[in-house]
Amino acid sequence: MASLAELLARRRDGYALERPFYMDPEIYRQDLDHIWYRDWLFITPSCELAKTGSYVAHKIGDYRVMIVRGADSQIRAFHNSCRHRGSLICKGTKGVAPKLVCPYHQWTYELDGKLLWARDMGPNFDPSQHGLKPVHCRELSGLIYICLADEAPDFDEFAKVAHPYLDLHDLSDAKVAHQSTIVEEGNWKLVWENNRECYHCGGNHPALCRTYPDDPSVSGIGEGGEVPAHLQAHFDRCEAAGAPARFQLSEDGSYRVARMPLKVGAKSYTMDGELAVRRKLGRVPFEDAGSLLLFNYPTTWNHFLVDHSILFRVTPLSPTRTEVTTMWLVHKDAVEGVDYDLKALTQVWTETNDEDRRVVEDNAAGIASPVYEPGPYSPTQESGVIQFTDWYCATMRARLPGAAAKIAAE
Ligand code: FES
Ligand SMILES: [Fe+2]
Repeated sequence: MASLAELLARRRDGYALERPFYMDPEIYRQDLDHIWYRDWLFITPSCELAKTGSYVAHKIGDYRVMIVRGADSQIRAFHNSCRHRGSLICKGTKGVAPKLVCPYHQWTYELDGKLLWARDMGPNFDPSQHGLKPVHCRELSGLIYICLADEAPDFDEFAKVAHPYLDLHDLSDAKVAHQSTIVEEGNWKLVWENNRECYHCGGNHPALCRTYPDDPSVSGIGEGGEVPAHLQAHFDRCEAAGAPARFQLSEDGSYRVARMPLKVGAKSYTMDGELAVRRKLGRVPFEDAGSLLLFNYPTTWNHFLVDHSILFRVTPLSPTRTEVTTMWLVHKDAVEGVDYDLKALTQVWTETNDEDRRVVEDNAAGIASPVYEPGPYSPTQESGVIQFTDWYCATMRARLPGAAAKIAAE
C-alpha cells in the first residue's frame, strides 16, 4: 500500500480522498500524532465548571484529560493518570470533588494538581515531585480549549479574531440545557466533510431546512473572497448594530467565523422558526440576526443563535468511529417549562444529528467497497469540503517528519 506521504503527494485537488485516509489504522495514528496531539482542542463550555472542584474528563486518542476549576477559580487541565501507579483519577465524564482523590490508593491531589497526601511513602518521598502532569488550557469567551502538545501552538490569534464575535453571546452566563453524545461509524474526516457542505441538506434534513437556507454561500467559503450582495447586506446590518458578522477565515484555514442569515423570517433553529427560549442567552441586537457560525478544526463547529447556542465536539474513537457530542446552551436563569420547552429547543438538531450520522455511515460503508474511487467535489456546493480537505492535506504535509514531508510536497 502507498505510504501516507505518497498518498498526499498524489492527491488530486478538488476530489475526495483515497480510501486509506478514511480507514487505514496507520493513517489514523498519524492523524492523531500530527493533528489531534498537536492542535488546540475544544472540550467543554466553562459553565460546566461552575463551582470550585467541578471537573470534566475526556479521552482523546490515548490521552485522558481532566479539566478542573480550582479554589482560586482558575480552570486548569491535567492528565488523568495518577503519579503513583498511573490509575485514572476521575472516572466519570463530569462531577464535583473537593480534592482529586485517586480511587486506587487514595493519593490525594489539590485542585491545582499539587500532591497533598500519600500514605506511608517513606521519609525520602518528595510530594512536590509527584503533582499531576499539566495540560495546556485556555478559556476563550466561555469555551475551554486544551492542547496535548509539550509546546502548544499560538492560541492568541484565534482568540483575538473570535472573541468579539463570541463576546456578545455571554457563554459564561449559560447552562447546558441538554447534551447528547452519538457515535458515527465513520472516520472523523467524513464527519467534517459532511458538516462542511449543505449539498446534502435538501435531501436529508427536513427539519433543519425549515430555517437553514439552501444557499451554498452560507455553508461554503465564498467564491474567491467575493461576498454575495445579500450576505454583505446582512453583515453590514449586524455590524451597524454592534454584532460582529463578517466572514473571517484564518490564513491556515483552521478556523472561520461568520454571522450568517437564516431563512427569511426565521429567528432560531426551531420547527416554526420562532425563538426557542424566552430568556435569551446573549445580547444580539435583533432577532433575525441569524446564526454565528464558528468552526475550529479538528474539534468543533458551533451555532450561536440570538436565544441559545449549540456547541459540537468531535472526538475520533478509531479509524472508522467518531463521537459527536452536542451541547445546547441556554441562559443560566432560563427555566425549563417556563422559558423554554426542551423538545422544541433540541428537536431540529437531534433529528439533524441522526440524519448526519446516517449519511456519514452510508458514506463510510460505500468507501469500504474495493471499487470506491474518489469523485469530484462540486465547486459551488462543496467549497467548504474542498477547504477542509485542503487544510487537512496541507497540515499533514507540513507536519510529516523529514523524508516523508519531502515526498508529500513533490
Ligand atoms: S495509582 Fe493512584 S494512588 Fe495508587
Ligand atoms: Fe448535515
